[in-house]
Amino acid sequence: MNSNNTRASDIFNNEDSNTSKNQDFDAVLNLRLSRRNMLRGGVGAAGSVLLGGAGLAGLAGCATSGQGAMAANTPLSTLGFTPVAKSLADMVSVPAGYKAEVFYALGDPILAGAAAFKNDGSDTDFDKRAGDHHDGMEWFSLDANGKASTTHSARGLIAMNHEATTDEKLSSFFIHADGGTSTLPRKAAEVDKELMIHGLSVIEVATEGGKWRYKSASNFNRRVTTMSEAVIHGPARGSEHLITKYSTDGTKVRGTLNNCGTGKTPWGTYASGEENWFGYFTRDDKDDAKRGAKDKAVAALNRYGRRAGAASRHGWESAGSSDQYVRWNNGAIGASAKDDYRNEMNTFGYIVELDPYKPTQALRKRTALGRMGHENVTFAKPVVGQPVVGYMGDDSRGEYIYKFVSDALWIASDANADDKLAVGDKYLDKGTLFVAKFKADGTGEWLELSMKNPIVAFNPDFEFKSDADVAIFTRLAADAVGATKMDRPEWAGVNPRNGEVYITLTNNANRTLDGEFGVDAANPRVYKDMKGTKENGGNVNGHIIRLAQGKPADTSFKWDLYLTAAEAGADKGKINLSNLTDANDLSSPDGLVFSQATGICWIQTDDGAYTDVTNCMLMAAIPGNVGDGNKKTLTYKRSDGSEKAVDTYIGKTPTEATFKRFLVGPKGAEITGWCETPDGKAMFVNIQHPGENTKMADINNPANYESQWPANVGYGAGKRPRSATIVITKLDGGQIGS
Ligand code: FEO
Ligand code: CA
Ligand code: CA
Repeated sequence: MNSNNTRASDIFNNEDSNTSKNQDFDAVLNLRLSRRNMLRGGVGAAGSVLLGGAGLAGLAGCATSGQGAMAANTPLSTLGFTPVAKSLADMVSVPAGYKAEVFYALGDPILAGAAAFKNDGSDTDFDKRAGDHHDGMEWFSLDANGKASTTHSARGLIAMNHEATTDEKLSSFFIHADGGTSTLPRKAAEVDKELMIHGLSVIEVATEGGKWRYKSASNFNRRVTTMSEAVIHGPARGSEHLITKYSTDGTKVRGTLNNCGTGKTPWGTYASGEENWFGYFTRDDKDDAKRGAKDKAVAALNRYGRRAGAASRHGWESAGSSDQYVRWNNGAIGASAKDDYRNEMNTFGYIVELDPYKPTQALRKRTALGRMGHENVTFAKPVVGQPVVGYMGDDSRGEYIYKFVSDALWIASDANADDKLAVGDKYLDKGTLFVAKFKADGTGEWLELSMKNPIVAFNPDFEFKSDADVAIFTRLAADAVGATKMDRPEWAGVNPRNGEVYITLTNNANRTLDGEFGVDAANPRVYKDMKGTKENGGNVNGHIIRLAQGKPADTSFKWDLYLTAAEAGADKGKINLSNLTDANDLSSPDGLVFSQATGICWIQTDDGAYTDVTNCMLMAAIPGNVGDGNKKTLTYKRSDGSEKAVDTYIGKTPTEATFKRFLVGPKGAEITGWCETPDGKAMFVNIQHPGENTKMADINNPANYESQWPANVGYGAGKRPRSATIVITKLDGGQIGS
């Protein structure tokens, strides 16, 4: 969700709750050094050596195994298509020689009992249909016998996130005949539909006669909604902070919510990030006083974006006295936590794991990976005898980048186990969480978040009693160690060529020259940009940072900025530092996934700043490596005439042979979610919230819709715009991007 946009949902996303005054880094480092001295018996152990290119190249030769370990089959050295021009057309544009077809949109029936989608607001049974706001997704092959496979490309399962809904005021207006109620109390019949269009879906897909379709009668098809039971796993299981009326022992929860980015585990399951879940809750303005000043839940609620009295996004709590509505009131309204939902918000904010091949198995919430506004998790190539490592961004302004390192060491046979969630228990329920600190000299450190770290355990601002507390109140632990406040960390991806980690930093309206969000080496730009007559400030267009480590579990890294997003016409000395041109300029990078088939890095945008010139887009990149560019000093002039200089590190300027635009989407849509068949010949992309700037008052006036996609390309009934999955193939049958 983009901060420069004017959509109603913005007030519930990108919350600005990181007001932490992180400790001075030298003090943090000294504490760390003394701790390591205690643990490891010498200062020398703290100075870990960074491996350069040779060390990383060596990694590729290590014994690797597992589904995430599939090396690039035919890594491309140049991109073989003609770039797509920027566009404001209400359509999907792809290069000459390619076709894009819609095949799975909001409301499409996937389970028995759902009728064809009428798309006029009268439809019900959304627990049997595609949800809304298609987001991250992953591919899981099926062989000819319908068994799990890692290689087949003609038949498979796609699991995807249904992040949110297109709103005005309280209502998800496109699914209600008259647009729905925009004042409290909400109508139960409307809320019942809205509860069901969130969550996940799994569909079986296949290509037959050159056409991709989903199979509406497949036994693999599944919907997970805000009401599906999920199980708490990892250190937070049974915590007092997870006790609710629904689960008085803190071990289970209903549903998953605001699922954004995804990852595929090395053992072939689906991992989904719960992102902007806090906005769905409300507690009354006396709730802090009711809980009492000593209740640390109050500090945590504020740090996680829910101050007392803040309104909820949809007003679901107002629809009646049934539990399914009351649970969205997270105030302390009962006699104890067992009598109300004061802790319900703590049951969201995790990475959740699903086995797409087992349609009746409950989701597991992997609390060891921390609680935050999770975008996605991406796993490093697993190496036999080494820990499993995952990278994650917390997407709000000024939040952090994290990594998880498992206790268990990788065993090759786990890649193909039948009970995949049991393998998930082994690698994801016990391990250590780290948060990134980026230093001005181009290096960085992963700082440990656990009770073993005295800065966390003895935090004077928030009492951590256990690793369960660290798992639930992760942001407060990260504040304590002095992590670097980033420009909204979105997707992370691992380059299959060299193991380097890429993270999109989509934009940050709060970045300033000085002060709490003052520019630093890793977030070095603050500038103005005009959108029509509106001036946007901060880091308007975002950037992509990347990290090189000797081994994924190392605590030191080297970093640079792969690219700075900008308009082609922006100042090349101060803003457009990557010298982008009309063929490859972009704003607000968000989705980022590397193809295992071709090595292409696919970058998607969710933009509101450059949308006066172009709709959101999908870029293709063949990046180099950390350190292939130059140091750059940015000099700013303050209003009092004094100067501030910031050193940063910019990757090698991309050429149009290695970075260009592949797709532009319809009006009002972001491009998000990406997966491919193992042969790299079919690529699936999600188009989220076309027409999101439509006014609810125009609900039955299609001529005024911002978008009529995909109805305007002949897909489905009605004219209301719908989030949808498209499949892209090359007309000559070749690999995408070649
Ligand atoms: Fe759901 Fe950070 O995008
Ligand atoms: Ca502009
Ligand atoms: Ca996103």
